[in-house]
Amino acid sequence: MFSLKLFLKLLLLTTNILLVFSDKSVSRRRPKTILILADGIRYDYLNDANLTGFGRMAQNGVRAKYVQPIFPANSYPNWYTIVTGLYGESHGMVQNYMYDPKEKDLFLMSPHPNASHPHWWNGAEPVWINAEKHGLKTGVYWWDGCQVKIRGKEPTHCLGYQSYWTWANPNEDTTNALFEILDNFEADDWHFGLVYYEAIDAMGHAFGSESKERVEAVQEFDKILTTLQDEIEKRNLQNEVNIVVVSDHGMIEIDENKNTRMINIETIVNVDDVEVMLDRGTTAFIIPKANKEAKVSFTHGHHGYDPYDVKEMRTIMYARGPGFKKNYTSGPLMMTDHYNYLCYILGIDPKPNNGTWNNVKDFTSDSGAKVAHLISFSNNSSLRLEIPIALILFSIVILGLKR
Ligand SMILES: *[C@@H]1O[C@H](CO)[C@@H](O)[C@H](O)[C@H]1NC(C)=O
Ligand SMILES: *[C@@H]1O[C@H](CO)[C@@H](O)[C@H](O)[C@H]1NC(C)=O
Ligand SMILES: *[C@@H]1O[C@H](CO)[C@@H](O)[C@H](O)[C@H]1NC(C)=O
Ligand SMILES: *[C@@H]1O[C@H](CO)[C@@H](O)[C@H](O)[C@H]1NC(C)=O
Ligand SMILES: *[C@@H]1O[C@H](CO)[C@@H](O)[C@H](O)[C@H]1NC(C)=O
Ligand SMILES: *[C@@H]1O[C@H](CO)[C@@H](O)[C@H](O)[C@H]1NC(C)=O
Repeated sequence: MFSLKLFLKLLLLTTNILLVFSDKSVSRRRPKTILILADGIRYDYLNDANLTGFGRMAQNGVRAKYVQPIFPANSYPNWYTIVTGLYGESHGMVQNYMYDPKEKDLFLMSPHPNASHPHWWNGAEPVWINAEKHGLKTGVYWWDGCQVKIRGKEPTHCLGYQSYWTWANPNEDTTNALFEILDNFEADDWHFGLVYYEAIDAMGHAFGSESKERVEAVQEFDKILTTLQDEIEKRNLQNEVNIVVVSDHGMIEIDENKNTRMINIETIVNVDDVEVMLDRGTTAFIIPKANKEAKVSFTHGHHGYDPYDVKEMRTIMYARGPGFKKNYTSGPLMMTDHYNYLCYILGIDPKPNNGTWNNVKDFTSDSGAKVAHLISFSNNSSLRLEIPIALILFSIVILGLKR
């Protein structure tokens, strides 16, 4: 019934449990994770002076040299890649604006109601749904998609997307959301919290990546990170709570004389052949009128802004907590790489994805991340039976050897 391989595996598991639970720096409660998506942080913004919140994250945790977005370096495609580990063609969120001819539906960004139609999201399963399916309660704040029943499930708590421009106190509300997550962590109720933060992207668009307003927005976010780390220490949760800060893409200053070439779409496409044109800027989707497909199809202009060419599209990743090493900087990551370490520190099985485990395996600390796995193992009904059986067999073998 039991092969030698299974026996050795269980022996290893037992040793791991003993090792992990003798490590005093690790909480015995299941570790929890806060994932913050701060939109539009270019990888080199954090070279600004005095960003002590990020500095403290780096000293006590890990960071990537930079993170390479998927193409196109826009919000929705990269948001869904962060939480699924999949490229756009696999998760289905290929742009901020889309048209689905099968459903005859336009995807327009939240708060537009079309963004909440489940068929846009059902191409993949975001990590908050995977976590809920593993029995982990999840609270999501302003991260678009949390309001959608994806593959039949919703997170325990969701506060839907809120536009930055009509929001009175985004910084105060973000801090309060983080504290609310900590309250639920302390009660050992929720195990995962996700927070979306838009200010840096909004200022980068409105005033430019080099503007004073953008610099100040990074400083404000850095203060939130300081407050969060102070609060975690005040509540003595530093060995129980992971903080992960990621972003979706960078930003480039528009300068027609230097780095930008304007293309007037009307010079290449006859507007009479176009049924719908979605988006503008770096990429545009054109839906040709019936029978005009061949005429229009060559005009998908993807000039510049391809993240593989334009380094200004690169972004950041910082993390600290029991699941991560301290003071460690990795090489570059791909946006598809976040998903695997998120699942690892949450202790859940990742879905098939496009991430490379080798890119992130050195982030994780041996003890903290293993705890999540072992606790989820011990919560697994099939193993609940196997562990005692293995221990009994193990004793029989030891007794047998003694004779
Ligand atoms: C950083 O802090 C120092 C000391 O408080 C101050 O002199 C300097 O102007 C600050 N730099 C920036 C960019 O805020
Ligand atoms: C999506 O939005 C567009 C534009 O507002 C609208 O015409 C269309 O009917 C919407 N799709 C559905 C399925 O409601
Ligand atoms: C264990 O699994 C059950 C459902 O199978 C779930 O309700 C519970 O929250 C899980 N506990 C932990 C700590 O994972
Ligand atoms: C962090 O690592 C760097 C280089 O790897 C080292 O110079 C520095 O002393 C370390 N800092 C701490 C606080 O351990
Ligand atoms: C990405 O992962 C999915 C799921 O495993 C797979 O179907 C797809 O082929 C992968 N894409 C690439 C480019 O490897
Ligand atoms: C429980 O363990 C089985 C066998 O190892 C595995 O296939 C399954 O994914 C696990 N379930 C959970 C919820 O971890």
